[in-house]
Amino acid sequence: MNRVTYFLALETSCDETAAAVFTDELQVLSSVVASQTDLHARFGGVVPEIASRAHLRSLLPVVDDALTRANIGLKDIGCVAVHNTPGLVGALLVGVSAAKALAFGLGIPLIAVNHVASHIFACRLAAGRDIFPCVGLVVSGGHTALFRCDAALSMELLGGTRDDAAGEAFDKVAAILGLGFPGGPAVEREAAAGNPKAHDFPRSFIDDGRLEFSFSGLKTAVMYACHGQDVKRAAPPGPGQKRADLAASFQSAVVDVLAMKCKQALRKTGLTRLAVGGGVSANKLLRAALEAMCKKEGAELFIPPLSLCTDNAAMAALAVEKWKLGEFAPDDLDAEPNWL
Ligand code: KG4
Ligand code: ZN
Repeated sequence: MNRVTYFLALETSCDETAAAVFTDELQVLSSVVASQTDLHARFGGVVPEIASRAHLRSLLPVVDDALTRANIGLKDIGCVAVHNTPGLVGALLVGVSAAKALAFGLGIPLIAVNHVASHIFACRLAAGRDIFPCVGLVVSGGHTALFRCDAALSMELLGGTRDDAAGEAFDKVAAILGLGFPGGPAVEREAAAGNPKAHDFPRSFIDDGRLEFSFSGLKTAVMYACHGQDVKRAAPPGPGQKRADLAASFQSAVVDVLAMKCKQALRKTGLTRLAVGGGVSANKLLRAALEAMCKKEGAELFIPPLSLCTDNAAMAALAVEKWKLGEFAPDDLDAEPNWL
């Protein structure tokens, strides 16, 4: 009888310290995420130096917790996986250094995983069956991009954002509206009471076929609609219909663009599956819009539950694919802040 191999995966690319235990059959035994939101909230965004220090403090307790919940010990682990790209370099380094030390100390292989590819793989994990080939959309705080995914480890970029990522736009608009950090969930809550048609905000590239995005003009449009021309001296609007309408109209513009570009990508590639990952895919309006679009197009939508949309270590189960191919990381594995 073949013995099961247990993987321990680490994620420290931005502001969540996470560890997960899964098997070579993609069974997730535990997934622990320690969020740093409280530490960054008063600065209105992630402060890289604070993130790195918080990862240093939290990582080992988070690993212990993941092992305890999986009911195994370090000696049972057969492989260590880590997201080593892309992300904040200091933050990534904490996970990469810990993963290297664990693999070396335990005498087991180390596998390096791309965080963005893992966001797509979260769909495979949640579906419990093959999802490839598919169009992949990653919408997070740092990335907004469409991929042709022929297999778990074969991703070709179809197009990305020319400026801000969708999540970044949510965070910046939340700041303009005085809704705090993190912005995505705050804007979504505020939008619930607003009229999405109150403002006709720009939907960049919606009428042309290019698979690219631009959200910085939209953010600026929200700023002028909120404050008029006197932007510099303006305080955020207080609670009320005006703020809710701005949030709802902004959210509606982002969702329209994302749904349209996914539709265009499905048509261009001829693929009939769409897999969506990253923090913004937690947004309920986006989920509903993609569902409706896929139904109309005759495509199958894969979108993970919320816990697998935002940053986590379970999605690094993509490492199992590399493990099967014997694609192990070198001893001098480094953190790579830019996409590899
Ligand atoms: O994937 P993620 O957890 O971290 C990165 O890799 O960036 O994504 C975080 C981003 C943030 O910009 C956050 O505001 C956004 O995802 N986000 C949302 C929602 N939940 C998180 N955006 C819109 N609606 C949400 N419900
Ligand atoms: Zn992410």
